[in-house]
Order: sequence, then C-alpha cells, then structure tokens
Amino acid sequence: MRETFLPYNQPDLGAEEIAAVSQAIQSNWITRAGITTQFEADLSAYLDGVPVLALSSCTAGMHLALLASGIGPGDEVITTPYTFAASVNVILHAGATPVLVDIDPDTGNIDPNLIESRIGPKTKAILPVHYAGHPVDIDAINTLRDRYQLTVIEDAAHAIASRYHRGKVGTHGNITAFSFYATKNLTTGEGGALVVPDPDVMDKVRMLSLHGMSRDAWNRYDNKASWFYTIELAGFKYNMTDIQAAMGRVQLKKLDAMQKRRHHIADRISAGLEGLPVTPPHIRPDVEHAWHIYPLRIELDAIDGDRGDVIGDLTALNIGTSVHFIPIHLHPFYQRQLGYKPGDFPQAERFYASEISLPLYPTMTDRDVDDVVNALSVALSHRLR
Ligand SMILES: Cc1ncc(COP(=O)(O)O)c(C=O)c1O
Repeated sequence: MRETFLPYNQPDLGAEEIAAVSQAIQSNWITRAGITTQFEADLSAYLDGVPVLALSSCTAGMHLALLASGIGPGDEVITTPYTFAASVNVILHAGATPVLVDIDPDTGNIDPNLIESRIGPKTKAILPVHYAGHPVDIDAINTLRDRYQLTVIEDAAHAIASRYHRGKVGTHGNITAFSFYATKNLTTGEGGALVVPDPDVMDKVRMLSLHGMSRDAWNRYDNKASWFYTIELAGFKYNMTDIQAAMGRVQLKKLDAMQKRRHHIADRISAGLEGLPVTPPHIRPDVEHAWHIYPLRIELDAIDGDRGDVIGDLTALNIGTSVHFIPIHLHPFYQRQLGYKPGDFPQAERFYASEISLPLYPTMTDRDVDDVVNALSVALSHRLR
C-alpha cells in the first residue's frame, strides 16, 4: 500500500506559469487587456482559426451562448442527465426549459438516436456534453441541427484536446464552451472560452460578457479611447482577467505534452486492469479522447458490495477518486423544478451506479499509476463473489 495519499486531481503548474502570472501583475493591466487578447489568438490558432472569446468560466460561456442565440422563456433545450449541474442551470438561467435525453451506455454521452423523438415545436437548441473528454457524435447532432433549424451549444468543459473525425472539438461549426477550471486539462484557476462561429452572435456575446457596453467602450482606457460608452443590453460581468490569461498561455503551450502524458497514463491504467471485474472506458473509432476523466465501471454483479464500498476501500489504500456524475434527475432541485424522478433515465442511473473516476493527471508518475491499479486489484479481489 502507498504511504502517502494520492489526490484525485492536481494541476500541472510550475515556474513558467508563476513567471507569466507575476509578469502580468507587474504590467499593471491585471484585468482583461492585451494578454487576454493574445490568449484568445493562441486558442484560436490551436483550434484551426475559429473565433474565440475568453471568459470567466464555461458556465458563463454557455449562459451567454443561450442568450445571444435568442433562447429564452417558452423555449426548450435538449441536454443530457449525465452532466454537471452547470449544463442545466444555464438553461434555467436563460428562462428556458431543459429536456433531458438518456445516454449511450458505452460512452456516457447523450444518445443521438433518442434525441429526435424529443424535438418538438418549442425545441430551440441541443446542448450536448463531451463526457470525460470522449466526443459526442457531432455529425449525428449536426444532422438534427440542420433538419430542425436548431442551435447547438457544445459543452466542451472536458474536451479542450478532444478530436472528432477531421478536427478538434470546437471546430465543427457550433458554439462551443471550454472550461479552464482548476481540475481541467488546461487551467487558469477559474476560466473558460467560447467559440462562436457567427460574427453577429459573437458581437452579442462579447457585449453581454461586459455589462452590455457598446464594443467601442472595451478599449476605453487606452490613449485613443474616449470616456464615452453606451449600454446596449443588460449584460453580465463574465470577462477573463490578464492574470488568468497569462497562466492560460503557458498552459496552452504545454497542452500537447500534457495530453501525451494523459494518454500514456490512461493506456497504462487500461493495461493494468486486465482480468479485473471492471469495464474500462469505451472509445469509438475515429475520435481522440482528451482523457480529462478516466471513468471506470465496476461489474457490480461480480462483487460483494457496491461502488461506494470500493471507493471506501481505495481511500483506505490511499487512493483518491471521484464520481462523475450524479445524474441531474436524481438531485432534489431538478425533481422539484422539472418533475423528474428516479427511473426516468435508466442508462444514466446504471452508469452512475458503477462509475468511479480514477486519478489521471500529467504530474502522476508511472509508480502512482501502478499504485492505483494495484489498489483496485486488492480492493476488488477481496470482494469477488
Ligand atoms: C460537464 C461540465 N460542464 C460545465 C462545467 C462548468 O465549468 P466551469 O466551472 O468552468 O463553469 C463543468 C465543471 O466541471 C462540467 O464538468
């Protein structure tokens, strides 16, 4: 057994990030200014030239995407029950109604085959989530988008480095929201970015992100700008800061190397699981997993006890874990607000009952990975029926 506790997640931050953040602070332009603009340009280049706006979070991005797409009271937005609360809360914040559709039991992503029957006259958008960093079937969702004239907002909180067929997630023609939260593959502490292909929608998102000020007012502190601005919309305060962007620029430079390490770790975990009563993550052909999460599923029929018991065993063996996700319809708020109840989304519930997210981050050593696998092996072999 390991002597020290292995945390579930840790960021990969070092001297370069510290130097960049320190430089940003010393520049005196600590909130949104030139470094954020440079970070947006870097992100855009990474994503094959799509237009990008850096924001305070992925949640902020999805909220603005819905508002700028004209989605509001009376409208329905289709999403998955297998997600974090943010994906559903933003729909409620926009005044619209979330309509949940069950998941594909292999990937944990919304099942595109189940979406069409839930599309009705009130449906205005689909908000799919690239669960764990495995892309959803974007072609199938884009086909529905075109057939029914819908907006698609991709929740790519887990998917900054995912690829689907020909391109990276974020380059398939939809509004796409990334998260740079502390645990994410690229972190700015808190932060996010929104890809917005339509320039008119982008103008609206940009304005809404900073109080609803007219665009000219953005640069009102430089020597060419005037003090004058107008408020065009009741906006929000969702901008990124230069301190965050400074960290983000370094993280983006490191991203390919960090991803390489994530892939190595995921492969090493998968190889070590052979023979254990578990189902490793399923990967569809022609996609690249971002390995934000390693969602292992325990074969509950083969063991005594449940997923919670195995988590308890792993904690006792000094291995930190997590669970992604508690399905939306099992939370009391959404049951009260939307009338959902246990049993409504059986695939999501089945996935949840057996899922354990294993530690997976670039600063893990191979020894750490082996400790995870060995601990699982000990925990499960003691529980074999
Ligand atoms: C699927 C999903 N969507 C959205 C979010 C929200 O991201 P943020 O914290 O950047 O708002 C998260 C957060 O972890 C998430 O897991």
